[in-house]
Amino acid sequence: MAIVSSHSADNGKNRKSKPNREPSPKANQAQQSLELVQANANPEEKIAEVARSPQDVSIRPQNLAEYIGQKDLKELLNISIAAAKSRSSVLDHLLLYGSAGLGKTSLALIMAQEMGVECKITSAPALERPRDVAGLLVNLQPGDILFIDEIHRLPNVTEEILYPAMEDFRLDITIGKGRSARIRSVNLNRFTLIGATTRIGALSSPLRDRFGFVQHLRFYEVDELAQIVLRSAQILGTPIDPAGAMAIAERARGTPRIANRLLRRVRDYAEVKANGSINATIAAAALELFNVDPRGLDWIDRKLLSIMIENFNGGPVGLDTMAAATGEDTQTIEEVYEPYLLQIGYLNRTPRGRVVTAAAYKHLGYPSQGEFKLEG
Ligand SMILES: Nc1ncnc2c1ncn2[C@@H]1O[C@H](COP(=O)(O)OP(=O)(O)O)[C@@H](O)[C@H]1O
Ligand SMILES: [Mg+2]
Repeated sequence: MAIVSSHSADNGKNRKSKPNREPSPKANQAQQSLELVQANANPEEKIAEVARSPQDVSIRPQNLAEYIGQKDLKELLNISIAAAKSRSSVLDHLLLYGSAGLGKTSLALIMAQEMGVECKITSAPALERPRDVAGLLVNLQPGDILFIDEIHRLPNVTEEILYPAMEDFRLDITIGKGRSARIRSVNLNRFTLIGATTRIGALSSPLRDRFGFVQHLRFYEVDELAQIVLRSAQILGTPIDPAGAMAIAERARGTPRIANRLLRRVRDYAEVKANGSINATIAAAALELFNVDPRGLDWIDRKLLSIMIENFNGGPVGLDTMAAATGEDTQTIEEVYEPYLLQIGYLNRTPRGRVVTAAAYKHLGYPSQGEFKLEG
């Protein structure tokens, strides 16, 4: 039985232009020598569907030129791509980190596009067993990109398979159990691993150290988000003026995915309540209706801040307490809500916990911290 048939399900379906490729002799050899492992569901498939849902595929930037913002990162990648191409070698492994929706998956797809190779997309939770990742690795063609999303969630057993694979393009598999166990090595084609994570701190250092580049995606400026909104609106065929794009951009929490999501909501509103085109007034009215305030805070952000102000006099408050008080889990607070609130200066991190800043008091309409005292 074969390890994993990571290609078969998406051959011709998700692939853009390349004809089906026969498994290489190497892959065949590996597959034959690994009869102990069973075929399983295609771990890259679930993610590929999400990453390339029809709605998204049109809006997602297709090349580096269309990828707005992240100037320094783009420059570095441009250089690496040009260098790899001129040497006819593969790109160094790349680790991208930053909040959700900042463009990590898009960038991996673009890198493959620019290098003229395939990008196999998977996510750490789909790589539960060593054979899941082994199956993907043996099927990679020379130069291919393997994109592993949420890479901080890889189980140890899978992660350890990646070490020799990344360093020496070698797959070490243990065959048998106990005293009769032997390690069998299979050479892999040279490939590029692109890992994405929202939590760089949760990555083990042996894994982190095997990446040639570790790059941070930052939150976007409002004018960059406005460009993204204008581009997406054009693709969606929605008329929008620059002020309308700015109004959406200002509320998009520095995040392209949110900008695109808000654009869709505003588009619905404009179609139903007006003549279908978006300006600043329509955008503001629509977003107010959807409970997004002028700084892009939704009701959970506001609840989080107001609980901290009203119940804890603005902090310091520990993450666990914040989670208990709001009913959100700590991970969601840490990864989804907090980064933006820190970014816009509404929260500060201190050794004793999180504190609400004066700017947040003002934004939410509370008297400043000194004047606002808890009763009793
Ligand atoms: N730099 C960018 N320029 C234009 N659109 C972008 C950019 N980054 C992200 N997007 C848009 O935001 C969406 C989310 O990006 P994605 O790459 O899936 O983020 P992540 O993988 O970091 O969560 C994409 O579908 C794309 O439309
Ligand atoms: Mg992603």
